This record gives sequence, C-alpha cells and structure tokens, in this order.
Amino acid sequence: MVLPCPMDTDLSGTTALVCGASQGIGLATAVALAGLGAHVTLFARDRLRLEEAMASLPLVPGASHDLALADFAEPGGVLAAASQAMERAGGFDILINNTGGPPGGPIADAPGDAFLEAMTAHLVNNQNLAQLVLPGMRAKGFGRIVNILSTSVKCPIPGLGVSNTVRAAVAAWGKTLAGEVAADGITVNSVLPGFTDTARLASLFEGKARKQGTDTGTVRNEALATIPMGRLGRAEEVAAAVAFYCTPAASYITGTVLAVDGGRTPAF
Ligand SMILES: NC(=O)c1ccc[n+]([C@@H]2O[C@H](COP(=O)([O-])OP(=O)(O)OC[C@H]3O[C@@H](n4cnc5c(N)ncnc54)[C@H](OP(=O)(O)O)[C@@H]3O)[C@@H](O)[C@H]2O)c1
Repeated sequence: MVLPCPMDTDLSGTTALVCGASQGIGLATAVALAGLGAHVTLFARDRLRLEEAMASLPLVPGASHDLALADFAEPGGVLAAASQAMERAGGFDILINNTGGPPGGPIADAPGDAFLEAMTAHLVNNQNLAQLVLPGMRAKGFGRIVNILSTSVKCPIPGLGVSNTVRAAVAAWGKTLAGEVAADGITVNSVLPGFTDTARLASLFEGKARKQGTDTGTVRNEALATIPMGRLGRAEEVAAAVAFYCTPAASYITGTVLAVDGGRTPAF
C-alpha cells in the first residue's frame, strides 16, 4: 500500500524575491520555486537575460512572475527596485539572497576596497532586503530567507580570500537573524554550493588556468579529483536544497548551513 506523503512542499499563493536570478543557481532556484507554485520576482542587472529567464519559469494556475533590475554594487538602487517589486507582488514571503561572487585571488594581494565592495554586495544588500520584507513576513507569521553562500563557510578555499571572508560574515549575519525572527514563523538558512557547473565556476577555472599557465581542462580535472562524487554539481541540485528550505515542510529548520557539494567539504 502506498501511503500519502505528509510532506508539504506546496508554495501556491506565496511570493518570492530571488536575487541573482538571471542564470546559474539563482535561475535554477527561481525555476524550482515556481514549480512549487510560488509567484517569483527575478532580480539581477540584465533585462534581456531576465526576460528570457522569466519565460522559462513554470507557471502554475493562478501564479504569474515578474522581474526587477538593479546593480548589487549600489544598495540604494537595489532597495528602490525591490520596494517597487514588493508593492507589485503584495509583499514577499520568500527572500533568496544571492549575487555574483567576488573576484578570486590570494587574500594577501586583495586591495582593501575589494572587501568593502564585497561586503556591500553581499551583506549590506541582504540586510536592507531583510528589513524590507520582514514586516510583511511577521504580519503573516510566515517567512523564508535563504542565503546562497559557499562551502568556504566551513573550510576557507585557497585563492578565494575576499569571498571566504565575506561568506563567513554573511553566515554569521544569517545565524544571528534566525534567532531574532524564529518566534515569528520566519526561518533563515544558508545553502553552501560546492563546485557547481555555472558561468561563475567557468570563469574561476579560466582565471586559475591563466595564473597556472595551464588549460581549463586540467584545472577542472584537479577540481573533480577533490569531489568524492567525482563530478560537478548542477545548479538544479543546489536549487532543490534552497527550495526545500522555503517549503512549509522545513518549518522547524532555522539558523542552519547546508553544503550541497558532492561530499567535497572535509568537515561536518
Ligand atoms: N558555481 C559555483 O561553483 C559556486 C560555488 C560556491 C559558491 N557560489 C556562489 O553562489 C552564487 C551564485 O553563483 P552562480 O554560479 O549561480 O553564479 P553566476 O552563474 O555567475 O550567476 C550570478 C547571478 O548574479 C547576478 N549578478 C552578478 N553580479 C550582479 C550585480 N552586481 N548586481 C546584480 N546581479 C548580479 C547575475 O546576473 P546579471 O549578470 O544578469 O546581473 C546572475 O544572475 C555566487 O555568489 C557564487 O560565488 C558558486
């Protein structure tokens, strides 16, 4: 006998703001949330790419999707565009914090401004967006905030000095916020992608190959050798974890970090 599954993953009637949603992990997350019934607002810089992305989203009956444009280097513009999108959506139940990763390179060579820029893009925007959506989430007694970070939160990755530093700060931010909003039915969690086959990873591999005077195939093989599953992750595999955090089924999970990395991170 097949028992009915008691797990509630239905997001019908909810609204989601997905940052960095024109490609990669952000787009895959938007697709996953839309597939579960959410109305999704895709947020990034490039209108054409966003329009194409929006056209690729599943549309369940009664839902529609929207887009918002801003450069995450400019928090004022991000907040203004998100506020307008929130007005159109009638509030956001789900916020996915995500944007392009900081440039790679040894931390000893990083200019001080690189930390300011990365903190602005990753932390200041998260804070502003959270403050924008929290009153509505509190009023509803339901909210989901998911930060897309990196496994560097558990083990810093050589050659990604600025990113390692900023990810740790955002993880601490999320953990702190989780405790403050838990009693309001709002959860805050972070997903840590491992090597995931996207444009970001391709550009990191290219950069490393240039620096080492080798080719991207060699760099890719070196990376694969560190992954127990022996392959790169797919954006959809990361998105599935993000989407699960957003469902009613994940109601008692907050303040956590979850690596989606094929077993690569050598830490619990
Ligand atoms: N892929 C991996 O292996 C991996 C591993 C660990 C962590 N991560 C992190 O996970 C996040 C997503 O990675 P991904 O691989 O999906 O990256 P991606 O393919 O490069 O996509 C990045 C997304 O962010 C948007 N974006 C970039 N810069 C922006 C800006 N200044 N303002 C607004 N939007 C901006 C891009 O849209 P537009 O360019 O159209 O604006 C795009 O939608 C990044 O922070 C990355 O560092 C990735």
